Amino acid sequence: MNFYTRKWVRPEDLNANGTLFGGSLLRWIDEEAAVYAIIQLGNGKVVTKYMSEIVFVSSAREGDIVEIGLVATRFGRTSLTMRAEARNLFTHRSILTIDEVVFVNLDEDGNPAPHGYTDITYARDRVPAAHRA
Ligand SMILES: CC(C)(COP(=O)(O)OP(=O)(O)OC[C@H]1O[C@@H](n2cnc3c(N)ncnc32)[C@H](O)[C@@H]1OP(=O)(O)O)[C@@H](O)C(=O)NCCC(=O)NCCS
Repeated sequence: MNFYTRKWVRPEDLNANGTLFGGSLLRWIDEEAAVYAIIQLGNGKVVTKYMSEIVFVSSAREGDIVEIGLVATRFGRTSLTMRAEARNLFTHRSILTIDEVVFVNLDEDGNPAPHGYTDITYARDRVPAAHRA
């Protein structure tokens, strides 16, 4: 699993207990998964379909740096399933895990469309043509 994105826990990300608000973390993970799916499926139009059990393992505090990791675990016909983890950059302690985050590849009309991919890319070869320099 690669940890691509780092987030700095700021005052607006805290809950009433003074620790990281779960909603902020889920927003970061959903956005990170969208970016990952766009790159893997070569399509800017992907949506979240499903998230499995979300386990908050430990908390983070203001000033902590959270890194977010994703790995593709299944390429379906129109979907991509990923596993997600957030951890503390300093201690590597796990903060959250989600076994299945499923995104669906859409066509121009917003209907599920086959993406044609079966494996992970580590290059930018699938960047949607419309966005290439
Ligand atoms: C995404 C959407 C177009 C899919 O429509 P649908 O009727 O479920 O389409 P399908 O039944 O063809 O399923 C599409 C894919 O999702 C998968 N899927 C459907 N329901 C699923 C579920 N509960 N869990 C995991 N995967 C699921 C299917 O297996 C299929 O993948 P595959 O082609 O790789 O086998 C539709 O559900 C939708 O618009 N949802 C709202 C998405 C959204 O707005 N998300 C933002 C967060 S609110």
